[in-house]
Amino acid sequence: MCGIVGYVGQQPAQGVVIEGLRRLEYRGYDSAGVALVSDGAIAHDKRAGKLANLEKAIAEQPLPAATTGIGHTRWATHGAPNDPNAHPHLGRTGRVALVHNGIIENFAELRGELERAGHVMVSDTDTEVAAHLLELAVVAGRDLTTAMQEVSRRLEGAFTLVAVDAQDPSRVVAARRNSPLVVGIGEGEHFLGSDVAAFIEHTHEAMELGQDQVVTITADGVQVTDFDGTPAEGRRYHVDWDLSAAEKGGYDWFMRKEIYEQPRAVADSLLGRRTPEGLLQLDEMRLSDDELRDIDKIIVIAAGTSFYAGMVAKYAVEHWTRIPVEVELASEFRYRDPILTQRTLVVAISQSGETADTLQAIRHARVQRSKVLAICNTNGSTIPRESDGVIYTHAGPEIGVASTKGFLTQLVACYLLALYLAQVKGTRFGDEIAEIIDQLEQMPDHIQAVLDGDEQVYELARAHVDNTSVLFLGRHAGYPVALEGALKLKELAYLHAEGFAAGELKHGPIALVEDGVPVLCVVPPRGRDFLHDKMVSGIQEVRARGARTICLAEEGDDTITPYADALVRLPEVPVLLQPMVAVVPLQLFACELATQLGHDVDQPRNLAKSVTVE
Ligand code: G6P
Repeated sequence: MCGIVGYVGQQPAQGVVIEGLRRLEYRGYDSAGVALVSDGAIAHDKRAGKLANLEKAIAEQPLPAATTGIGHTRWATHGAPNDPNAHPHLGRTGRVALVHNGIIENFAELRGELERAGHVMVSDTDTEVAAHLLELAVVAGRDLTTAMQEVSRRLEGAFTLVAVDAQDPSRVVAARRNSPLVVGIGEGEHFLGSDVAAFIEHTHEAMELGQDQVVTITADGVQVTDFDGTPAEGRRYHVDWDLSAAEKGGYDWFMRKEIYEQPRAVADSLLGRRTPEGLLQLDEMRLSDDELRDIDKIIVIAAGTSFYAGMVAKYAVEHWTRIPVEVELASEFRYRDPILTQRTLVVAISQSGETADTLQAIRHARVQRSKVLAICNTNGSTIPRESDGVIYTHAGPEIGVASTKGFLTQLVACYLLALYLAQVKGTRFGDEIAEIIDQLEQMPDHIQAVLDGDEQVYELARAHVDNTSVLFLGRHAGYPVALEGALKLKELAYLHAEGFAAGELKHGPIALVEDGVPVLCVVPPRGRDFLHDKMVSGIQEVRARGARTICLAEEGDDTITPYADALVRLPEVPVLLQPMVAVVPLQLFACELATQLGHDVDQPRNLAKSVTVE
């Protein structure tokens, strides 16, 4: 949510900043802006709409040359997405320029104070007050770093602020509380970004920052302090993916590219998980076997697609370990006074590692002294850093706003966690665990087989462009898949799409079924007869009422043929692993349908990839 870039070095800052914004545009795309320090003055431009609008404006009216600059791509919270509300914001005299991600909760009070002192605000944002306060401090003689420390202490809420001072082109200064920010370490140049994609084409060396820290970058160095000015250390790490991972590589959309990357992402997420003796190992678990043996309840918390991965986790963890699992929306979790003890393991699933609802939920859990384990795809992000342990997924950067490879690799991590708990607790024999891991290791091939059948799914999508409502049915582990399929269609095609547990049909949803309504049905493998047969009955019921059934069923399952208007074949896999193959056609379906409708698949309206405000 909002992308932020900062640069100081030898290169033309405008190019570095704009390129960084392009890589962060998935975080928000209501408006964009840039500010450069040139000849003792701030030169800036900012425009409503996508980054292309800003680029066009700058092409028509170029900014002066500079080697220090900041930039922002916005997802509006306070104030409409128009030119005045776009970032950067300037102080009263235009000496300081500042960009912000997050929400300054006490901005109204600060704004009142500034206005009483004669300041005139030109935007409706919460951000502008920070620019004015910062400028007051530098005008009073503080250097930008000290000024930032001072101002940060006055702000409440969540913020990453990045600022420049017209009279000091040598530095860019940032502050961070509850919103993401990483430092890129180059030679003779340094970078700031909401995530490493902002600078990955310049350096693979990054530094993660802690909570309530101020960082100053110059061409030659990085200095970190807390808000009081006490020196602090950031953790350095190497980013092991390269620029090509942040580019479309010939695909029309990042999302489509990421769908096709799933076999690789799943394989990478499974790498190195077994010891030479064949035991499961989770490198960054950080929770001891004794602590895990003591766990008597698991609560999974997550948002959006990650929440559906959590729903699948419940089936696997309970089945393999007999530990009771609750799955809860992160945004609801702490408001219901959940029962948490030292024996509760809270599992936070978050692709970005920055979702504010999830972050606040784990903080609540830790205050109650529960253990927290993160499942996360983003090294250097906040949620794993504030957790007792982490299982990193290795999907590489996910840029399409609608999560795809993030979801599949989260499933892998959930299965690995379940099996690891089974190993530690002894609820499954070693050979059973090894067999399931073998099956998991075959999943990349199975996913590839589904992708190889993409043309059939694309044709189905093209045949449904005129539908205004699409339903999804599933049972057991197929139920979260139905929900995820519906979410994808809502996010991308802006259609009415709903997922249901097939058994609930008769309790209401069947009333939605009328002539010609497409119903996508995830049919469980035949190995689970009772599940499979119940699902087939459900399909017959909707079909009898006029639905057009599109069934996803395993190879060789002929029982379904008479009731399927269209049949998409899935590889034969165990029921608990079926979500990994069943969701893929639904991703392809939504991506293609949205493309046909002319929507921007990577940047759907009103959404942001990383929701860093509650
Ligand atoms: C946003 C995104 C979703 C994502 C959800 C959770 O709403 O648009 O695609 O599933 O956040 O994100 P996380 O990074 O915590 O997995």
